[in-house]
Amino acid sequence: MRAVQVTRLDGPEAIEIVDVAEPVAAPHEVLIDVHRVGISFPDLLLSRGQYQLKPELPFTLGVDVAGTVVEDGNGFTAGQRVCAVVPYGGGAERIAVNVDFVFPLPDEMSLDEGAALPMNYLTAHFALVVRGQAQPGESILIHGAAGGVGTATIQTAKALGLTAIAVVSTPEKGEVAKAAGADHVVLIDGFKDEVKAITEGRGVDLVLDVVGGDVFTDSLRSLAPLGRLLVVGFAAGQGIPEVKVNRLLLNNIDVRGVGWGDYAMRRAGYLKQQWNEIVPLIETGSIKPPIGAVYPVEEFGQALLDLDARKAVGKLVVAIR
Ligand SMILES: NC(=O)c1ccc[n+]([C@@H]2O[C@H](COP(=O)([O-])OP(=O)(O)OC[C@H]3O[C@@H](n4cnc5c(N)ncnc54)[C@H](OP(=O)(O)O)[C@@H]3O)[C@@H](O)[C@H]2O)c1
Repeated sequence: MRAVQVTRLDGPEAIEIVDVAEPVAAPHEVLIDVHRVGISFPDLLLSRGQYQLKPELPFTLGVDVAGTVVEDGNGFTAGQRVCAVVPYGGGAERIAVNVDFVFPLPDEMSLDEGAALPMNYLTAHFALVVRGQAQPGESILIHGAAGGVGTATIQTAKALGLTAIAVVSTPEKGEVAKAAGADHVVLIDGFKDEVKAITEGRGVDLVLDVVGGDVFTDSLRSLAPLGRLLVVGFAAGQGIPEVKVNRLLLNNIDVRGVGWGDYAMRRAGYLKQQWNEIVPLIETGSIKPPIGAVYPVEEFGQALLDLDARKAVGKLVVAIR
């Protein structure tokens, strides 16, 4: 079977489609015929050897997948549509996945949308509910709002009763954020003043930051008293921002780290619990991942280059079969 592999750490240009042996499922694993793989930031970093995980070469890319179950077992039936999340290795025609990381795909979701669901939406849910302790009626400023985690956070925040202010780099991305449900859209240049105007000087209760870099200090300045800044990622790649802790004291604000993967993978049952909480939001249509583009498997590397070039809107997806 075919797999999307990293054979040397030279980035997306060096990715190869190779023939590998089919996996055999262990007792606690579900065998899945993969139809779609969602492109994710960890794929990009893994291809360059820049991710916190350093798998031995060669290894298969792919974090978010959607497909069909191969055989009955572990509570799943042959042919059932599912999505799943793995640390890496999902980008192959057939994979064996720990049952804890496999979720039945609701009828409302296409396979493309299924491949856009697990990592981004469960990260958004964890960020808002566990780390942000978001309450209905609060407001949130979302950086990188037209991207994968950004659109997932807009939709999840709206479903939880928050006001969502999206920050984007172009008017076109603003349209994507608006379509995802943002109440307000502001451009990145001068966003702090815009946010103050929208909140009548008060500031926002939450900031979700997937970008890092230059926006960090102005994000802190955009918080209302008792506000929480959620550190989710560093897509700008400009180095890790630093915080002068007197700002936290003076304004009674928090900076909170969001490390969904490590938290979720270490707690048996937590992923299923999260999934059960978001399924009703899928069924009511509050969650509907925007798909930016679907690439053939041969263009997996190109999809990663487009993500890197900030061309992605919503989630990019690759068709494996
Ligand atoms: N902590 C966790 O548990 C967790 C979980 C999932 C993902 N993440 C991290 O979250 C980050 C975002 O992931 P994503 O899937 O949402 O990515 P994405 O779809 O590419 O969105 C990221 C957004 O960041 C903005 N951006 C600013 N500078 C950028 C740059 N130099 N390159 C690329 N984008 C840039 C872009 O918006 P504008 O062009 O509008 O500025 C882009 O839409 C990544 O760092 C990822 O590793 C963390």
